[in-house]
Amino acid sequence: MSRILQITDMHVVSPPGLVSGRLDTARILENAIDRILEDWHKFAPIDVLIATGDITDRGDNESYRLFRKQIERLPAPTLLIPGNHDRREPLRACFSDAPHMPVSGKINWVHDLPDLRIIGLDTLIEGQGGGELDADTLEFLALALDQAGETPVLIALHHPPFQSGIRFMDAIGLESTQGLSDVLQNRTNDIRLVCGHVHGFIVGSIGLRVAISSAAVCSSFPADYRADAPVGYTTHPGGYAIHSWDNGFRSASVTLADGAGPYPFKVPETA
Ligand SMILES: [Fe+2]
Repeated sequence: MSRILQITDMHVVSPPGLVSGRLDTARILENAIDRILEDWHKFAPIDVLIATGDITDRGDNESYRLFRKQIERLPAPTLLIPGNHDRREPLRACFSDAPHMPVSGKINWVHDLPDLRIIGLDTLIEGQGGGELDADTLEFLALALDQAGETPVLIALHHPPFQSGIRFMDAIGLESTQGLSDVLQNRTNDIRLVCGHVHGFIVGSIGLRVAISSAAVCSSFPADYRADAPVGYTTHPGGYAIHSWDNGFRSASVTLADGAGPYPFKVPETA
């Protein structure tokens, strides 16, 4: 059994910076880590954390350091891939001692757990909102899948390989999914894809494979499919995801919204 906690789209900016002049994402991340720590005993053991991009909002060194300080409060190693708001070299520099971090080029990696292979794919085109899986990355994926054989695989990438229905996000989606679809085709092992970018929990697919975007830590994009939907975010609390392999995949979305309970279903009758 393997268990992975995914956090995505933290968009950290170091204080006193705010995202869009409103979101104190450093504070939001700190509060999220507090909440995850409070609940850790409920879903432990977690083998590894995956941060699926938009780790910082502006790609600066100080924001990566701040993110690292927070994520290291959690008692599991962290694997990282960049999102469109990240910058590859500052991200690499901040986590250069992480065993999965390549010394140069795209931040593609493989991390093996006893019964599950995790593959991280770099979709970042620096300076652009949209993402791509270039020929080298697809080749990396094909080789990593070949080597996996019948072992189940979790693939992590920032941009979803499906349309979210949110027009302003689909305009900056993954440029082409055909290459990915081709690499996944005709494989007989269990493969699931997890991503971020669309700041919401969406279950989609690519070919016959399930692909899931996790809720974001810092903000939410509403499921508004109208052509004239307002372009922007909401401050509705986001969340994170827990993916398990236990003779099959199971993915849970965990809210960061406030609430109370659990309360018993039956209350004692009063006299
Ligand atoms: Fe984002």
